Amino acid sequence: MTQEKIFNKNPKSVQTMFNLIADKYDFLNNAISLGTQKRIKYQSIKNLGIKPCDRVIDICCGTGDLTRIIKQIEPDADVTGIDFSEKMLEIAFRKNENNRIEYLQGDATSLPYPDNTFDFAVMGFGLRNIQNAEKAVEEIYRILKPGGCFMHLDFGKHNFLSKIFDITTPILSRIFTKNYSAYSYLIKSKQIFPEPEDLIKDFESKGFKLKKREDFLSGVISSQILYK
Ligand SMILES: C[S@@+](CC[C@H](N)C(=O)[O-])C[C@H]1O[C@@H](n2cnc3c(N)ncnc32)[C@H](O)[C@@H]1O
Repeated sequence: MTQEKIFNKNPKSVQTMFNLIADKYDFLNNAISLGTQKRIKYQSIKNLGIKPCDRVIDICCGTGDLTRIIKQIEPDADVTGIDFSEKMLEIAFRKNENNRIEYLQGDATSLPYPDNTFDFAVMGFGLRNIQNAEKAVEEIYRILKPGGCFMHLDFGKHNFLSKIFDITTPILSRIFTKNYSAYSYLIKSKQIFPEPEDLIKDFESKGFKLKKREDFLSGVISSQILYK
């Protein structure tokens, strides 16, 4: 994937950065997105049509937003979240009422599951942060059952609205957190992340087939559903 050539992300530094911002992550996400991110996440999960007893994994689950939305939509799904930041996971654990969701610490480029395990895999705002993104996509393909679906959600088009976001985010992060560099990283990683058309080609090159794409906020955020 082209982003790796121009923006080299050391996994240890990315892990440390998310550990440092974990406490403020949810609050700032809502502020930056003007409260829209939850609705977008909800709609993206709803599109999947998850059924009772389906096995679903959220890779790069962070503080667990997507895992909780999956349970809200389909309480009888078997849901797992995986992330390599222990501090982000601590918050996910704290919000895990009745321990209905399984969380584990692990690396997206080496998923601890046999081939053909899951009916669904989801990833929100994660791929952009992974140094070896190709390997992560190969892993997702490997652990999905034949016919299983992958929902990828992240920033989309680099359009005018997206550029406004690039200006407001550092300002908000300066006001609300002391970790300005983490949010400068976020903007940089967003600016060099492939637009959805190119991303879909990358996914297809690993064997996935596109099922549905939905754009939000005039394309600033985009979700793609692909099947194996
Ligand atoms: C921007 S957050 C997204 C969190 C959550 N999915 C959401 O939508 O709010 C990115 C997450 O990816 C995790 N991450 C980045 N690289 C990873 C890797 N190689 N393996 C596992 N987790 C990783 C980080 O620890 C962080 O929690």
